[in-house]
Amino acid sequence: MLLFDELSADEKTKVARINELTEQFVSADKYVFVTPLWNFSIPPQLKAYIDTICIAGKTFKYTANGAVGLLSDKKAVHIQARGGMYSEGPDFGDRYLRTIFQFIGITDVDSVIVEGMAQMPDQAEKIKEKAILQARQVASSFAKESVRM
Ligand SMILES: Cc1cc2nc3c(=O)[nH]c(=O)nc-3n(C[C@H](O)[C@H](O)[C@H](O)COP(=O)(O)O)c2cc1C
Repeated sequence: MLLFDELSADEKTKVARINELTEQFVSADKYVFVTPLWNFSIPPQLKAYIDTICIAGKTFKYTANGAVGLLSDKKAVHIQARGGMYSEGPDFGDRYLRTIFQFIGITDVDSVIVEGMAQMPDQAEKIKEKAILQARQVASSFAKESVRM
């Protein structure tokens, strides 16, 4: 294992930035993730961010019974746009993010999914209106203080 002091100046700068982002995430009360569905999943930039916030000892810990999330008093919303329909299909975007939230202890999670506007352009307006309505409902519960378990 490399010690921090043994890293190059460039590596130290990068590690310091990763730590800063992890601390920023831990200190927040609420999270809003807005993503497009890319090839059934999330964009690689977000995957890199997830690797920055899933840190043992900070957002989860290992116990004799397995990993336990440490961010139990937080809430999150995931808003995702998808060209096609995936609610009953191979969606690894929303499902993946929800798995990550669960892993780090965030159980109060809502999703707003806008899907199918590219696949069914004639229904695009209707799909958008439905999503806006859902977003308003989610926003009103998201603004409240209490955390659902
Ligand atoms: C690289 C790339 C991959 C995509 N993959 C999918 C996909 O797997 N399924 C899908 O329904 N739409 C896919 N799309 C379409 C986007 O999900 C859709 O355009 C969505 O509205 C993007 O959000 P945005 O309008 O905020 O950019 C893809 C788009 C791009 C650019």
